[in-house]
Amino acid sequence: MAKKSAIDIGLDSKQRSGVAAILDSLLADEYVLYTKTRNFHWNVTGARFNDLHKFFEGQYDQIDATIDEVAERSRALGGVSLGSLAEFLKHTRLKEQRGEALDSDEMIAALLADHESLIRHLREDLVRAQEKFGDAGTADFLTGILEAHEKMAWMLRAYLG
Ligand SMILES: [Fe+2]
Repeated sequence: MAKKSAIDIGLDSKQRSGVAAILDSLLADEYVLYTKTRNFHWNVTGARFNDLHKFFEGQYDQIDATIDEVAERSRALGGVSLGSLAEFLKHTRLKEQRGEALDSDEMIAALLADHESLIRHLREDLVRAQEKFGDAGTADFLTGILEAHEKMAWMLRAYLG
């Protein structure tokens, strides 16, 4: 008889670990993007300081909520969430950046490039979750996150005129 705590949701352990790896990369990316957005919230300067300071805060708050959802979905599928900065840096597909060297347009362009990169990765990841690992729930979950990044990217793009 299966253990009471065994996961019996129609996905075998291979499918679930494949999806967990997708969620690991996404969690690491979201954490790096969260940190970069927060860095720019602190270090932005110039005529649009007040506006961008608040705008970046709104975006990192949203990313923060996503981070929690991604980590907890991984746990729900039987995975172990990454939980250290070293692990995030090892798994991320994004690059860290120092804030003080950039002007406000360069900050916006850097964040926009990261959101767009994440959107492209998510587009592939959600197809893999569905087609390779048979996990419609994660495919749907990733689709929602992709759409949220598309909206955040639009708002960043709008600043650049
Ligand atoms: Fe603040």
